[in-house]
Amino acid sequence: FGHPWIFIRGVPSLNFLPPEGPLEVAFAGRSNVGKSSLINALVGQKGLARTSNTPGRTQELNYFVPDGYSGEGQDLPPTAIVDMPGYGYAQAPKEQVDKWTKLVFDYLRGRATLKRVYVLIDSRHGIKKNDDDVLDLLDKAAVSYQIVLTKTDKIKAAGVPKLIAETAEKIRKRPAAYPGVLSTSSEKGDGLDELRQAIAETVGI
Ligand code: GTP
Ligand code: MG
Repeated sequence: FGHPWIFIRGVPSLNFLPPEGPLEVAFAGRSNVGKSSLINALVGQKGLARTSNTPGRTQELNYFVPDGYSGEGQDLPPTAIVDMPGYGYAQAPKEQVDKWTKLVFDYLRGRATLKRVYVLIDSRHGIKKNDDDVLDLLDKAAVSYQIVLTKTDKIKAAGVPKLIAETAEKIRKRPAAYPGVLSTSSEKGDGLDELRQAIAETVGI
């Protein structure tokens, strides 16, 4: 962080993944939870990841890396942040939903260089059934993940510590859950430094 990030690749299916090399972190979560907005807020570049009021905006695995690396046969970037399609968007055509869900699940299960998944949960809604399904998958595949609450500007500030404690309690027995629930607002900037630091420590940048 502290230098520009660039988009290097949109991955519509697993054949198009970049070669495994740098350690990656991925942002997963229900459709519209604020994954793309949070990536933009973290790097301080509004238009980097495309965001939208309507769910289903992000449709591929989008790879972002620190600037200075093309990712195409040159020096490998030190790390990558992967923005993912959301899950649980019931209004999209079933074919689309199935395709995204398969892409997300296959990637999460099978990517050796995926160091940690940040699973985003909307502060107003908490952990839903399809979030639990993703956490089950990550636990089974032994892929480390950490919960990040989003849009805390939408709830009363006094309620945030309680929500963090309740969420932490819900995932306490999950084997692959990294301890500590983070809370963020892309809109207000709350919690961004903590998340930046967590990512930097995770991938060693
Ligand atoms: P998909 O790509 O469709 O899965 O969505 P996403 O998870 O990437 O969500 P996105 O970042 O596109 O944001 C969805 C909506 O939530 C947009 O209208 C954002 O402006 C809004 N939003 C995102 N983060 C915040 C936040 O911290 N606070 C508030 N109030 N709104 C937010
Ligand atoms: Mg998105």
